[in-house]
Amino acid sequence: MKFSIITLFPKTIQAYIEESIIKKALERNLLEVEIIDLRDYTTLKQNQVDEYQFGGGKGMVLMVEPIVKSIEAIKTKNSWIILTTPQGKTWNQNLAKQSVQDHDHIIIICGHYEGYDERVLEYVDQEISIGDYVLTGGEIPALVILDSMTRSIPDVIKKESFANDSFENDLLDYPVYTKPVDFRGSKVPDVLLSGHHANIQKFRDEQQVINTWNKRPDLINESKLNKNQKAILNK
Ligand code: ADE
Repeated sequence: MKFSIITLFPKTIQAYIEESIIKKALERNLLEVEIIDLRDYTTLKQNQVDEYQFGGGKGMVLMVEPIVKSIEAIKTKNSWIILTTPQGKTWNQNLAKQSVQDHDHIIIICGHYEGYDERVLEYVDQEISIGDYVLTGGEIPALVILDSMTRSIPDVIKKESFANDSFENDLLDYPVYTKPVDFRGSKVPDVLLSGHHANIQKFRDEQQVINTWNKRPDLINESKLNKNQKAILNK
């Protein structure tokens, strides 16, 4: 699995990768990340990649040529090309998993300034947004997308940790506890200290539903619940 990130801020991308689980995955050859500096693909003075927009209006716009040239330099016939933009399809766990399953090479273009020349879209497969708010640049969205996809690559994280992730079965995760057993009178639920695996599993199943019901009721989908979870919903 290979990711290529086209950005105006290669150091920002690199710095995050150095400190994250992505670095470990790179060391284990589970993926490859290539960072492309958009400024390497301009022929203009001072490595200019942006211009004022035709028709007037505030702010600079990324020019089509450097973006298309950078894509052409790295694209293969199997590449899938994402552009980060608040106008895109909203990213989620299912999209992260599906993208990793469906593609071997994903190119992420980080949008910037007031936007990009509309003709860039002729070279893009999917516009992606990470939520309904506007950020100052596409590096954070690109890292969000990269990080969530990296977690979905087989063997990057342990199967057990993945299975109970929030969103994995369209529910939020169950609560977890560690030492001390009693913190200022607030105690770890007894069942977790009981060593009784079936009861612990039942508690966790139920807590997933309760947690989701309290925090994200919009996610509750009865058809995806197991027996323990349906029972708690009907109580
Ligand atoms: N660029 C600016 N805001 C963004 C967002 N919410 N998602 C993706 N790219 C963006």
